[in-house]
Amino acid sequence: MRMKNQLTVKYEEKPIYDIILEKDFTNLLSVFHTILKEERTDTNDQPIFINKKVCIVSDSQVSNHYLREVIESLKGHVKEIKTFTFTQGEESKNLDTVYALYDMLITSKFDRKDVLMALGGGVVGDLTGYTAATYLRGISFIQVPTSLLAMVDSSIGGKTGVDFHAYKNMIGAFHQPKAVYINLSTLNSLTDRQFNSGFGEIIKHGLIKDAAYYQWLDENKEAILSKDLNVLKEMIFRSCEIKRDVVEKDPKEVGDRALLNFGHTLGHSIEKLMDFKLLHGECVTLGMMAAGYISYKRNYITKEQLDRMKELLEYFKLPVCVSGLSVDDILQVASHDKKMESGKLKFILLNRVGNAIIDTSVTKDELIDALQYILK
Ligand SMILES: NC(=O)c1ccc[n+]([C@@H]2O[C@H](COP(=O)([O-])OP(=O)(O)OC[C@H]3O[C@@H](n4cnc5c(N)ncnc54)[C@H](O)[C@@H]3O)[C@@H](O)[C@H]2O)c1
Repeated sequence: MRMKNQLTVKYEEKPIYDIILEKDFTNLLSVFHTILKEERTDTNDQPIFINKKVCIVSDSQVSNHYLREVIESLKGHVKEIKTFTFTQGEESKNLDTVYALYDMLITSKFDRKDVLMALGGGVVGDLTGYTAATYLRGISFIQVPTSLLAMVDSSIGGKTGVDFHAYKNMIGAFHQPKAVYINLSTLNSLTDRQFNSGFGEIIKHGLIKDAAYYQWLDENKEAILSKDLNVLKEMIFRSCEIKRDVVEKDPKEVGDRALLNFGHTLGHSIEKLMDFKLLHGECVTLGMMAAGYISYKRNYITKEQLDRMKELLEYFKLPVCVSGLSVDDILQVASHDKKMESGKLKFILLNRVGNAIIDTSVTKDELIDALQYILK
């Protein structure tokens, strides 16, 4: 695979933002400057000045590691920097946190030309994006994803939102970021469990779109887990590319973008029932095993391919079965999922490794069978 630093995401054929892969925050200011296009020309020593306020939104964990560094990189170059930090975790991804952020933006007199920056994982990105989509009918935001999952998946494609009670991503909007700035070195401070959780979505990318990439992941798994930065960069670039290609073709999820939901229908139900004690990527893995099992039972993939998928997920220390849940509970929650179409579950199956399909014909018996396969 080739090594590049930048990918452009288009919307209706027009370039709308870049995904930039870096090894530190050094170029964050120039990216900011390029996309926000305002320059102060009166001094030579500080050529870049952006006449906008910036609110850096982060969580309690990520802010400890990176907030100061990001503030330093922008200080003196923007009109004003505000910060908003909330308690880390999915439990904060709700309207209460959004209200607190609105409050802060109003009190700080943020107007339409000002900017939000999401510094953190998928929770920070989704919540900041949703606030940016709705505050003053939409202001600009920039994604600075710091978790592996956010780098390869949630920061790209403009899906923003929050949970409502225990319903995942029930409130949301499509709102595209102005840029996605990935600092790969932030991966070093992730816990092993959080790092591994990103592989749910990464392996998914290979399974649904690119058999060669799936094979590459298998062949390079040791280097990946040892966090070899060049291998990680190659992997993240390819995953971003796959996600980019899917969302470009179907930005509002009226068709093929639903393929990205492979593993998510049952995964979301498990996530809810486990009261978010399992991570998003872990629940997606369980959902993928169940969907993989149905694909195998329909003879779309072989038993060997199902077993190999299981082994690869296990190599990345992801759960392939779960205890403490019942088939009925999962089915009950899944029936309320927004991936329903005219009363039928919109299910994503593999019709072969490297290619997924949307299927609305999955029966209750098939689901029960698949759930029994992943329940201990
Ligand atoms: N919008 C989309 O298209 C999309 C796609 C997939 C997932 N999601 C959403 O993304 C969320 C999951 O994302 P996530 O796994 O990043 O969760 P997260 O944002 O909760 O981050 C996971 C944990 O890692 C910590 N963390 C993040 N970066 C860190 C770093 N560099 N160093 C140390 N700690 C760090 C966070 O503080 C948090 O505790 C879910 O809410 C899911 O619904 C959205």
